[in-house]
Amino acid sequence: QAKRISVPQLMAYKGQQKIAALTAYIAPFARLLDDALDMILIGDSTAMVGYALPNTLSITVDQLAAHAGAVVRSTSHACVIVDMPFGSYQQSPQQAFANAAKMLAASGADGVKMEGGAALADTTRFLVERGIPVLAHVGLMPQYVNTMGGFKAQGMTDESAERILLDAVAHEQAGAFGVVLEGVAEALGRRITERLAIPTIGIGASPACDGQILVTEDILGLSGPRIPKFARQYSDVGAVIRSAVEQYASDVRQGVFPGLENCFGVKKPAE
Ligand code: KIV
Ligand code: NA
Repeated sequence: QAKRISVPQLMAYKGQQKIAALTAYIAPFARLLDDALDMILIGDSTAMVGYALPNTLSITVDQLAAHAGAVVRSTSHACVIVDMPFGSYQQSPQQAFANAAKMLAASGADGVKMEGGAALADTTRFLVERGIPVLAHVGLMPQYVNTMGGFKAQGMTDESAERILLDAVAHEQAGAFGVVLEGVAEALGRRITERLAIPTIGIGASPACDGQILVTEDILGLSGPRIPKFARQYSDVGAVIRSAVEQYASDVRQGVFPGLENCFGVKKPAE
């Protein structure tokens, strides 16, 4: 069996092939996604998508480690990266290392993703020098919702675009293996991609990015009626599930399910 895609392999995709990535939080999705993708992220977006919370702030290291374990055990091909939850890394590089190591040791994931600008570059360096691959995440950073005052596209002015470019460069210099660019002006996504030697992975960024990532539920019709502008719905799996559940409920109410073939201790009738 072929080995799982490693972080250095992902880095070598730059300029060669695009990185196709999605999120997964649980085994059934991870199993279905694995073969088609280069990278799977256990995003803290599971707070909103999986736990119906209003933002990503309250998901914990233990929760994401448990989800990451489920994803790692259900995959063998894609590189598996896990998000650093809010509050698990901002205090100090030491705090970040302890929590990242805890999640990787508990799950077997390949690396971590961390939201933050240039101020967090020292933390990236601390982790990378100690054996933990870091995927930086700049631009729209959902964990900063309270300082941003909502989820808004970033880098729309020259000044803010310049700052985000410097954020990405700082993490590259600190040893990040890639940078997620979320919710940034298209021209900025392109500019950062051209400027960096490490891959950029866009979500609401630019087609020029070295890879793309989306929340899986958003492309499958499992996120409710509205999906973000930067997503595209590829299938309505929600409709398939709804119809299967309606059929099941109707069968139960009519006594059509279970059949005797679903019961124990029933002799098969003679052929
Ligand atoms: O949590 C998440 O899903 C993310 C995105 C980059 C998809 O961080
Ligand atoms: Na995230």
